[in-house]
Amino acid sequence: MQGSSVRFLNKIISIKSKKVEFKTIIEPFRIKSVEPLAMPTADQRRQYLHDAFYNPFLLKSDQVLIDFLTDSGTSAMSSNQWAAVMKGDESYAGARSWQVLEKEINDLTGMPYILPTHQGRAAERILYGHLGGKGKYFISNTHFDTTRANIEFSGAIAIDIPVPEAKDHTSDFPFKGNIDTLKLKQLIRKHGAKNIAAVIVTVTNNSGGGQPVSLQNVQEVSEICLKYGLLFILDACRVAENSFFVHEKEPGQKKKTYRQIAQEMFALADGAIMSLKKDGLVNMGGFLSLRDKKLADACTQLLIITEGFTTYGGLAGRDMEAIAVGLQEVFDPDYLTYRIRSTQYLGEKIYKKGVPILYPVGGHAVYVDAKGLYPHIPVNEYPGQALVCELYRIGGIRSVEIGSVMFGKYDKNKKLIPAPMELVRLAIPRRVYTQSHIDYVVEVFDEILRTRKSARGLKIIYEPEFLRHFTSHFAPVK
Ligand code: F0G
Repeated sequence: MQGSSVRFLNKIISIKSKKVEFKTIIEPFRIKSVEPLAMPTADQRRQYLHDAFYNPFLLKSDQVLIDFLTDSGTSAMSSNQWAAVMKGDESYAGARSWQVLEKEINDLTGMPYILPTHQGRAAERILYGHLGGKGKYFISNTHFDTTRANIEFSGAIAIDIPVPEAKDHTSDFPFKGNIDTLKLKQLIRKHGAKNIAAVIVTVTNNSGGGQPVSLQNVQEVSEICLKYGLLFILDACRVAENSFFVHEKEPGQKKKTYRQIAQEMFALADGAIMSLKKDGLVNMGGFLSLRDKKLADACTQLLIITEGFTTYGGLAGRDMEAIAVGLQEVFDPDYLTYRIRSTQYLGEKIYKKGVPILYPVGGHAVYVDAKGLYPHIPVNEYPGQALVCELYRIGGIRSVEIGSVMFGKYDKNKKLIPAPMELVRLAIPRRVYTQSHIDYVVEVFDEILRTRKSARGLKIIYEPEFLRHFTSHFAPVK
């Protein structure tokens, strides 16, 4: 055997432990039920995109080959979750399935008052609608779009203060999801503690590139909130993925399990909102958990009026059973390793080819810097939307723009105030795609790079008042 081959073998065979360590991260499951994929032709894709007004939100799912629109509600459930579905108790009040779910969420969050909702934004509407109103401020690492919309809809103001490191796409600072605690203290002094309705830390920071938040940062926020008597809410929809990064990158955390790290984070907060459509590993569900009885009572009133009785919220008994199992499975080390590594696999492959991305790769998605990829498209012609359309036109891949379509505003003269970044998010559904799907996506990026100069911008020809990215219509710029 050649010397270099021997060295290579020695590298992958750990002599000390006599254990073979393979480098390939495999999916830690096998497939029991399959769902055929649509394979639209190039001509069909061109027509479908035109018919959807160049907004992939308006495509039909059976026109899409690889759906990276969101990681929300798109998980594949396990055989154990499907088995649990059959145990669903559909009683209106006091269902057995509620007891199972309440115990699970109580164990995870350590919070006594658990309000089930049909998804995350229902919990947001209840809590932030109650706390908000004119003259109130909410401060966060970055408010997710529905979080911001619920806050602004109440008349309150939402302020984002990510750490300065979050702006540098190339540094390998490990916790770019952190909130800027210095700015937090300044804002408290500026607006007065009594006007701040809540401080919200989102883990991982979805709108900030899916970047993780350190346990130390959450500890600091908790101390500041305690000092000034502020309510501290954790937006925990990707808390398991965040725990993986804390375990891996934060000094002194290696000995804890992923679940213990999550439990510690919850222990530092006064309340939590979780969309279970992410790390709950289910297709629908959410909750609001609180420590304060008075606040919980007020929210419970709203829950009953808008979602349902306290022991089901917006959920069926079978949903609650599946969630309880999902919240266990998501902390499995094999699952979490596969999950984070496979997102990194996609990000690192396209990065090496020269596609500008937010670095380091976050937990649930790869964020492409569309402005860097298409420098010839001005921000008022939406480079992110151009890339979203090209990904579909070339490869049948659906993704979402997170830039000036989603967050841009207009000034008095109807001139666009652009978003801070022009990103495209490739969000990866949990346990759905295999490595060959991802390799296909990597190949599509070869073509994206080859044809980058001919990509064209878009103009908006119709837009609604709120959350315009969902339903706006576009046309290519001539
Ligand atoms: N908070 C964060 C951080 C989110 O990412 C989401 C949803 C929500 C709250 C709202 O939860 O959808 O259950 O009502 N994010 C999805 C996404 C939609 O695609 O990132 P929901």
